[in-house]
Amino acid sequence: MTHPYNNPVHSLGRDGGPRRPFRWPALLTADGRGMTYGGDYNPDQWPESVWDEDVRLMTEAGVNTVSVGIFSWAKLEIREGEFDFAWLDRIIDKLGRAGIAVDLATATASAPMWLYEKHPEVLPKDIDGVVINPGSRQSWRATSPIFRDYALSLCRRLAQRYGDNPYVTAWHVNNEYGWNNRFDYSDDAMRAFQRWCERRYGTIDAVNDAWGTAFWSQQVRAFEEIRPPRHMGDDAMVNPAQQLDFERFSSDALKDFFTAERDAVEAICPDKPCTTNFMISTDQCAMDYADWSDEVDFVSNDHYFTPGESHLDELLCSDSLVDALSLRKPWYLMEHSTSAVQWKPVNTRKRSGELVRDALAHVAMGADAVNFFQWRQSRSGAETFHSAMLPHAGEDTQVFRDVCELGKLLRKLGDAKVSGSELQESRVAIVFDADSEWACESRTLPTTKLSHWHDVRTWYRAFLDSGTPADVVPLRADWSGYAVVVLPSVLVCSPADSKRLERFVADGGTVIVGFASGVVDERYQVGLGGYPAQLSDLLGIRAEEFNIVGTVPGEPETVRLSNGASSRLWQTVVRSLSASAKTLVTYEGAEAAEWELDGMAAITSNRVGKGRAYYIGCDMDRPDIVRLLRGELSPLLPGGGVDSRIMHTTRIGGDARFDFYINRSRDAVDLRLARGEILLDYRVEPVGTEESADSGRRYSLLRNGVVVTRCVIE
Ligand code: GAL
Repeated sequence: MTHPYNNPVHSLGRDGGPRRPFRWPALLTADGRGMTYGGDYNPDQWPESVWDEDVRLMTEAGVNTVSVGIFSWAKLEIREGEFDFAWLDRIIDKLGRAGIAVDLATATASAPMWLYEKHPEVLPKDIDGVVINPGSRQSWRATSPIFRDYALSLCRRLAQRYGDNPYVTAWHVNNEYGWNNRFDYSDDAMRAFQRWCERRYGTIDAVNDAWGTAFWSQQVRAFEEIRPPRHMGDDAMVNPAQQLDFERFSSDALKDFFTAERDAVEAICPDKPCTTNFMISTDQCAMDYADWSDEVDFVSNDHYFTPGESHLDELLCSDSLVDALSLRKPWYLMEHSTSAVQWKPVNTRKRSGELVRDALAHVAMGADAVNFFQWRQSRSGAETFHSAMLPHAGEDTQVFRDVCELGKLLRKLGDAKVSGSELQESRVAIVFDADSEWACESRTLPTTKLSHWHDVRTWYRAFLDSGTPADVVPLRADWSGYAVVVLPSVLVCSPADSKRLERFVADGGTVIVGFASGVVDERYQVGLGGYPAQLSDLLGIRAEEFNIVGTVPGEPETVRLSNGASSRLWQTVVRSLSASAKTLVTYEGAEAAEWELDGMAAITSNRVGKGRAYYIGCDMDRPDIVRLLRGELSPLLPGGGVDSRIMHTTRIGGDARFDFYINRSRDAVDLRLARGEILLDYRVEPVGTEESADSGRRYSLLRNGVVVTRCVIE
């Protein structure tokens, strides 16, 4: 059977493929295999006198790969056309001789000042048309032909010099595209947006039709009249369809820059895999990464923890999507932090055990590479107070001891051939879609409080709490093999999406459609005849309005449901059900009566073909979703797994099965292992000595504890 990665049918791209075949960077070990361990390394930001110490300590920590040169353009091309590669030659050689592979950056993320001086026209413009000054990083327009020429020429230079270097095993193209230059409103961007619209719509009439420009006299007569959604006044409302297309265009413009850089390298050095680090976490959606994932040889991601009680769950949820974008092939954690970052309003540090626990959790979710930003903590500059593998205080530190311990644990997992194994799928898929995330941000919706990604996270956590971990998958993925598919505020549903869902249910699948799903199509147009028009046949419901609640003086702020749950934001006013649909839960109580929702359907179920479609017509917080999953929706959950306070994942490789158990709670949790040899135990204590055939061995999984077992598959 062809692995989905190498099967073009499984493209996740917006245009349907083809997907690049999977290629993974080899280590400098005898067989090239093992867990990759290391981080960003910026030797050019330090005197050369510390390099030997760096390599000695990297070796002590078990580091086997580093990413070099990410922000080094100014040190590589000192003046236009004047290159200095000598220092890079020396450090790559030093690292390589110590068995440390180099993931070499194209160094194009941050351009030197001489370039901006000579060509200020490469600087992006903000929404007000104000030029973004150089001095930070990524101060360039993705659509500038001038900047592209300079960047591609550096890519070629590096590929020519290091393409054959045995210590360079992968290309790290640019860095976190869009972190600082996601939106550009310059004239270059405007012209590129016009061409993008032409490719997407073909004719100007089709643009007018899609964007509904008859409203407020927004008609455009030629592509040249199309503008990016620049600042139109503080309270002005932007055409949401135009805004959504600008988001799509911005993702595409940066992707186009990436593929140009990748192709420039690849034309000279076709043998080494290329990647670029995505930024997938549930608080941001910079790019349409499902679309991007077709373009990399292996998926890599940067993940920074969310402080507070959601820390681990958020990590698992983000990683689940990364693993889906990798089509279950191993993926590369390109960056995370050993402790605090320095760019949040409150930069909490990691507590005992969290450094190792987080790293192992990424492995449990399919990562074969664990890397940090960065190796040596900066002494100056904007990231001085960002944690690193080697802290300011030096090697005699808890962080460095943890880094060394992690190195040993990863080595153990690599030796046991965890690397190369693939994460087993759940039976439940929760859909994430970049279009819906962007569309939910429009200020023109019934409420400005929608967040598709946060709703995905809430459902993900609710499934964890109910003991059935789910997968997060992109809408464009092939989710037909799942038993249950959940759509939390998937606002945008095209007719093709609706058809896929209908087919899936008719064939025996179950869908759970959340409030605010299927309200508009891919052009941001509402279907007529009752909400949610894109899905109303499937759900067997017809709604006329949305009841939005919040802090309105004198009005109830919540609406209760007959199953004890509460809604605090949105109730779809479902006035009629088809003959096949039935009401499971209604709105009830004084608040519902006040809003004239009393007795109205809040949660419905509809039989379609061999399957069933549920509609959850209102927002609910996590405990209420858990109650729903354990109550009205309990037939969908198989149960019988481990304690829900433990995250259990399985990776399968060759004839072995690796089970990961991670404590999600702050207290010690009892873990019973019926089978498998223990490969790794971190923060675990055995309980008692006896072992019984039915309940197996007992352990106490302490706070931040992790156990990994291996079983041979018969
Ligand atoms: C990433 C970036 C790194 C570093 C890190 C700090 O966004 O790629 O260069 O800035 O954040 O957390």
